[in-house]
Amino acid sequence: MFSNELLKRIRSEFPRAERDAFGKARAFLDNGTGTLVVGRAAVAEAKARVDYSANVYGIFDESKMAGEVIHEGRKAVADLLNAPSPETIVSGESATSLFFGLSYAMGKELRGRENVVVTNYEHYANLSPWLELKRRGLIEDTRFTPLNIEDGTLDLNQLGALIDGDTRVVSVSAASNALGTKTQLMEVGKMAREVGAYLIVDAVHHIAHGPLDVQTIGCDFLVFSGYKMFSPHGSFMYGRKELLEELRPYKVKPAPDHPPDSWEWGTRDQAKFAAIKGVVDHHEWLAKQVEGGFVGKLSQYSGRRRALKVALTAVEEYEKEISRVMLTGSGDIQGLTEMPHVKVYGLKDPERLDDRDPTFSFKVKGLRGEDVVERLWAKHAIAMRSEDFYSRVHEVYESPTLIRASFVQYNTVEEALRLLKALETMKAP
Ligand SMILES: Cc1ncc(COP(=O)(O)O)c(C=O)c1O
Repeated sequence: MFSNELLKRIRSEFPRAERDAFGKARAFLDNGTGTLVVGRAAVAEAKARVDYSANVYGIFDESKMAGEVIHEGRKAVADLLNAPSPETIVSGESATSLFFGLSYAMGKELRGRENVVVTNYEHYANLSPWLELKRRGLIEDTRFTPLNIEDGTLDLNQLGALIDGDTRVVSVSAASNALGTKTQLMEVGKMAREVGAYLIVDAVHHIAHGPLDVQTIGCDFLVFSGYKMFSPHGSFMYGRKELLEELRPYKVKPAPDHPPDSWEWGTRDQAKFAAIKGVVDHHEWLAKQVEGGFVGKLSQYSGRRRALKVALTAVEEYEKEISRVMLTGSGDIQGLTEMPHVKVYGLKDPERLDDRDPTFSFKVKGLRGEDVVERLWAKHAIAMRSEDFYSRVHEVYESPTLIRASFVQYNTVEEALRLLKALETMKAP
C-alpha cells in the first residue's frame, strides 16, 4: 500500500490529478481510455519538441540530439519491458497501426492453410488485422477463445483445444480493457510454443498496472501505447530480434533494411520518445520512494530495470487495494458486488485480485449507461464513460455498451468510495 503521504506526492507528479484544466476538482476514472500525463513526460516532450525539432541523421547538433533522444527513448522502453536491446523496440503511430503492420508482414509468409488464435475479450486492434488476413485468404481461420461467462476469465482448456499444428499466431491481450481480466500469459505462451506458433501480446491495457518482462513471458511481440501510461499518443512494439530481421515488413525502398527502422513508417517524432523516457524516469523516482519494501527482492534485475520492476510491483499491490474496495466496499459503503441494482461483468471474487486489473465494467439496472455517466459527472464530479471500448466483450455479453471505471496509481481509495456512494444513490425507489 502507498502511504497517504506518498500518494499525495504521486498525485503531485501529475499536474491534472487533483483538478482539470478548468479548475474543477474531479475523480478521473476514465484511465482505460487514456491516462493523465505525468509532468516529467510533458516537460521532456516540450523540450525535445522545441530544442531538438530537427530531423534525424543530420551532422548538426540539433539533429544529432534528436537521434540521441530517440535512442534514449528506445533504451527506456527496452528497460521497461526487460527487452534484450533497444534495437528490439519499434515505434508506431498507435497500437492499431502496429498490429496492422505486423499482420501485413506475417501475411507475406502465410499460405492460406494456417490459423490465428485470439480471445473473446480482445480489443479490435488485435482482431481486425487477423480478420483481414482471413478476408484476403492468407489464413484459413481466426479462432476465438471463449470466456467463462460468469467471471470473464479465459477458458484455457478451450484455448488449448483451438491451437493445432496449423496455428501460426496466438495473439492475446495481457488484460482485457473491458473486464480488467488478466491473461495467464505463461500458460498461453507454453501452448503456443508447443506448436511453434508466435505469441503476440497486446499490453495496451495492462501496461500501467504491473511489471511486464518479455523474456520471462517468452513472447515474440508485445505492443503498448504511451497514452495508456501517462505519456502522449504513440505506441511501441517489442519484437524478438530474429523475427524482426526475418519477417519482411512493408517498407519504402530507401528506408534502412535493419530493425527497428525497417519496421517504422516515415521518420520518428523524437518528442514522443522523450515523453516515454519521462514516464520511465517517473517510475524510477517512484522506485526510490518504495525501495524500503523491496530490499533483497527482484534481485534477478539490476539498475534501472530493477527500479522499474520495483515501482510497478508497488503499483500493482496498491491497485489491488482499490480493487478490493470496489468489489467489497468499506465500512457501511457497499461494494459493487453487494449492490443488487448493479450488474458487474468480469471477475467479482475478492480472493482473485491477482487475476485482474482495477478496471470494472457494469450496468445499473433500469438506467441507461449514458444517463449514469452523465449523473456521475454532473452530480459527483466523477469522469467516466459508457461505451463499447472497441472490445469483443460486448458481442459476448450481447450488450452494446458497458459503464467502465478504471483506476491507476494516482487514484485513491476515497475516489473509489465516492463512486460507490454515488452508485448507491442510483437505486430505483
Ligand atoms: C487492449 C487495447 N488494445 C489496443 C488498443 C488500441 O490502442 P491504440 O489507440 O493505440 O491503437 C486499446 C485502446 O483502448 C486497448 O485498450
